[in-house]
Amino acid sequence: MCGIVGYVGFRPALDVVVAGLKRLEYRGYDSAGVAVLADGGLATAKRAGKLVNLDKALAEAPLPGGTVGLGHTRWATHGAPNDANAHPHLDNAGRVAVVHNGIIENFAALRAELAGRGHALASETDTEVVSHLLAEAFSACGDLAEAMRQVCRRLDGAFTLVAVHADEPGVVVGARRNSPLVVGVGDGEAFLASDVAAFIDHTREAVELGQDQVVEARRDGVTVTTFDGAPGEVRNFHVDWDASAAEKGGYASFMLKEIAEQPKAVADTLLGRIDEAGTLVLDEVRIPAETLREAEKVVIVACGTAFHAALIAKYAIEHWTRMPCEVELASEFRYRDPILDQRTLVVAISQSGETMDTLMALRHAREQGARVLAICNTNGSTIPRESDAVLYTHAGPEVAVASTKAFLTQLVACYLVALYLGQVRGTKWGDEIRDVVRELSGVPARLERVLETMEPVRELARTLADKRTVLFLGRHVGYPVALEGALKLKELAYMHAEGFAAGELKHGPIALVERDLPVVVVVPSPRGRSVLHGKIVSNIQEIRARGARTVVIAEEGDESVVPYADHLVRIPATPTLLQPLVATVPLQVFACELATARGNEVDQPRNLAKSVTVE
Ligand code: M6R
Repeated sequence: MCGIVGYVGFRPALDVVVAGLKRLEYRGYDSAGVAVLADGGLATAKRAGKLVNLDKALAEAPLPGGTVGLGHTRWATHGAPNDANAHPHLDNAGRVAVVHNGIIENFAALRAELAGRGHALASETDTEVVSHLLAEAFSACGDLAEAMRQVCRRLDGAFTLVAVHADEPGVVVGARRNSPLVVGVGDGEAFLASDVAAFIDHTREAVELGQDQVVEARRDGVTVTTFDGAPGEVRNFHVDWDASAAEKGGYASFMLKEIAEQPKAVADTLLGRIDEAGTLVLDEVRIPAETLREAEKVVIVACGTAFHAALIAKYAIEHWTRMPCEVELASEFRYRDPILDQRTLVVAISQSGETMDTLMALRHAREQGARVLAICNTNGSTIPRESDAVLYTHAGPEVAVASTKAFLTQLVACYLVALYLGQVRGTKWGDEIRDVVRELSGVPARLERVLETMEPVRELARTLADKRTVLFLGRHVGYPVALEGALKLKELAYMHAEGFAAGELKHGPIALVERDLPVVVVVPSPRGRSVLHGKIVSNIQEIRARGARTVVIAEEGDESVVPYADHLVRIPATPTLLQPLVATVPLQVFACELATARGNEVDQPRNLAKSVTVE
């Protein structure tokens, strides 16, 4: 939530900052603003709405040139998304500019305190108190980094802050607590940003900050300290993707591009994790084999789409390892007083690695002595840093707010973890593991086939654009797939969409079925689990008898569904447990196309942001 860019170097700061904000707009698009140090002062511009509004304002009234600046794209928490509440926020003298991501929980008390000392605050935001406090601290110490340390020690809550001061040109200062901030280090320049995408055009060398750290960036390098002023420990890393990965590459939207990238994302996530003998080599899982053997249960925590991946993982983990596996919404987890100890393996799944609910859940788990394994897509993010081990998904940057390729790669990572547990604990024979691995290796080719045959799905989506409701049904692993299909439609098309376990239909939801209601049904493979398959074929008949318009997603060669399908979507034959990898793709395409037909902007759905860094 909220994208932040800071720059110090030799390039026109405004160009660098605005280009960076364009890459970060997925994090929030309620308003945008910039500040540049120029001519001994501070020049700022900010506008409510998307970045394009700010662009227009800058074209009409250009800011003076300067090589130090910062910018912000906002997902509003405190105060309406208007010009006044847009960042950056200044002090009364207009010498300091601050951008912020997160929530300052004690802002009301600080605001009252500042008002008591005669400060006039111009916005309803929690952020503005920081610019005023920084100005006061700076006038006492004359050092922006020291002023930032002093102010941070007074703040409660989660925050990333980046600030510049007209009286200390040549420096940009940042701070982080429970909110992301990465540093890009170039030759004669440095970048502070919420995400490496903001500076990937200029450098791929990055520094991951720790918790409660302040960074002081100058042209000749960066200095990191703790909030108390002690030297800060950091980790340097090289970003293993380039600028082209963060571009649309000829697609109309990032979402379409990311859907198309799924075969490669799955293949990349498998790469290097299986040796020639078919044994899993998950070097990243630094949790000792002994600990994994002794673990008594697995608990998976995640939010949104990642939670759906977790629900699917439960089937694989329990089936392959015979370990009990609980799946919990991260936002509920710690409030339930869950039963955890040293024999619990907690798996935290997060694309961004910054989701606050998931972070809080894993912290709670570690406090109780559990070992935490993160499944994450973002190098340098907080969740892997705070976990005992991490298995990275290699999906590349996911920019569209709706998660697609990250979901598929999270599934692959979950299957790998499940098989690895089976391998370590001896509940799966080597040849059984090799069979599953062979199937997984064949998934990218199957995904290519699915993607080549999506035109009828797009056509169908366009014809349903005026519907009010779409239901999704599935059984077994098809149930979370149905939930995911419904989530995609809700967040992109702003339609009422619900996913149900098909067996639950007769316990209530079937009352929703009326003439011509579209119901998408995910049919499990008829091979292997014929009981499951037979049951869902009956469910399709039941809803059709009540007038539903059935959209059936079924394996190639499954003829039993043909008489009951108003629309039939074929997917390649895939073993039941792995079927979500191929069955989800038509649902992504369906939601994307339907939302587009309704005139919605698929990459940036209303009210949402890609990275949810507040609880
Ligand atoms: O970055 P995370 O994977 O932790 O994000 C979790 C959810 O916020 C995310 O999956 C969200 O539900 C997506 N917008 C769904 O498409």
